[in-house]
Amino acid sequence: KSVLTSRWLGGELTCLYETDSTNNQARRLAEEGAPEGTMVVADCQTAGKGRRGRNWASPHGAGIWMSFVLRPALAPVQASMLTLVAGMAVVSGIRQAVGLESMIKWPNDAVVRGKKICGILTEMSTEEDSIRHVVVGIGINVNTKDFPEELAPTATSLSLELGRPLKRAPVIAAVAEQFETYYGRFLEKGDMTEFMEEYNRMLANRDREVCVLDPAGTYRGTALGIDREGSLLVKKEDGSLASVISGEVSVRGI
Ligand code: BTN
Repeated sequence: KSVLTSRWLGGELTCLYETDSTNNQARRLAEEGAPEGTMVVADCQTAGKGRRGRNWASPHGAGIWMSFVLRPALAPVQASMLTLVAGMAVVSGIRQAVGLESMIKWPNDAVVRGKKICGILTEMSTEEDSIRHVVVGIGINVNTKDFPEELAPTATSLSLELGRPLKRAPVIAAVAEQFETYYGRFLEKGDMTEFMEEYNRMLANRDREVCVLDPAGTYRGTALGIDREGSLLVKKEDGSLASVISGEVSVRGI
């Protein structure tokens, strides 16, 4: 029996003991015609993917490795905002399920005390200038006790923060329920207008000094918050404003 409380998200639900990557599995299902709301959850990923071709460690039972198939009537440029929508769903879902406050590190991480607890990877398939499908993949560290040495200073898990082991199902259900609500609201306008205030309150980078690694030149500034398109507004040291588009540049806290 499904423990999901969402209305349509997870209507088709695949739970796997092991897969290469839930994003890959969701993409394969989407290519076979899987409907919007199809959800894939795995206990372990053998080739979990992070952003920029990085590997995402996904050991058995340690976390939530899940992906959603979406078929929004949006232009491809709008699809990157689904990462931001998922970020809000993760922060709200974690709060609802276990009462822990996390924040969004724009554009695709959730952090607790500055340490990464969740990563989001959105991938899409397009045809001419329309979206065939989008896969939103969410990885949440739940019961991880020991991170590899290189990750330990910057990563955390729900159980490390709360000091007890946790069940994953209630967190999966809460994040799915929250995603469904935010996604529905997002589709009404197709931009972040309605969410700017709420998103910016969840933003860990807000009013913080950041370093923008732009291929055209690295610069420092203060992150002010997102705009309607989901870009991060950065006030540069010379006082001018830059709008940082997600996916094109990376932003580091200093
Ligand atoms: C990142 O922070 O770089 C993004 C990490 C995304 C990880 C999740 S786990 C579920 C889904 N399947 C994958 O292969 N990746 C995403």
